[in-house]
Amino acid sequence: EDQQTFYDAVGGEDTFVRLVRRFYEGVAADPVLRPLYPEEDLGPAEERLRLFLMQYWGGPRTYSEQRGHPRLRMRHFPFRIGSRERDHWLAHMRAAVDDLSLPEPLDRQLWEYLVYAAHSMVNAPDDL
Ligand code: HEM
Repeated sequence: EDQQTFYDAVGGEDTFVRLVRRFYEGVAADPVLRPLYPEEDLGPAEERLRLFLMQYWGGPRTYSEQRGHPRLRMRHFPFRIGSRERDHWLAHMRAAVDDLSLPEPLDRQLWEYLVYAAHSMVNAPDDL
């Protein structure tokens, strides 16, 4: 029986380092998203997202050791996330996933999760 986790299948920690670093390069240059991040240094936010994704996909449980239960929707309530913010978030994530050049089934599995998760984080209506 194959016990390999998705985390291992995509290349382990190195892959998540690359994914999240590339994603935050996009966020840093994005006038819609950058103002949402309260800290001047995006490094700590980058680390939290990396550790969460590593844990979610079967890697080390460091995220919850440091932060407790993820409760991601609750943790995002302080930030106004409408469809515009969601779509910017996903655009940077798509570019970051593309850079990984994963085999198609792994790329699709990762991407479907990220799309679903980003939609579930929306907490504000679109402006009329
Ligand atoms: C934290 C924005 C979607 C995972 C944050 C923070 C902001 C933010 C501003 C605070 C930065 C920090 O201190 O860490 C957004 C926006 C999204 C989005 C605009 C658009 C939909 C997501 C999704 C995930 C995610 C889909 C997971 C797949 C996280 C994690 C944290 C975080 C793990 C740190 C939580 C903690 O431990 O405090 N996000 N986010 N975010 N976000 Fe998002």
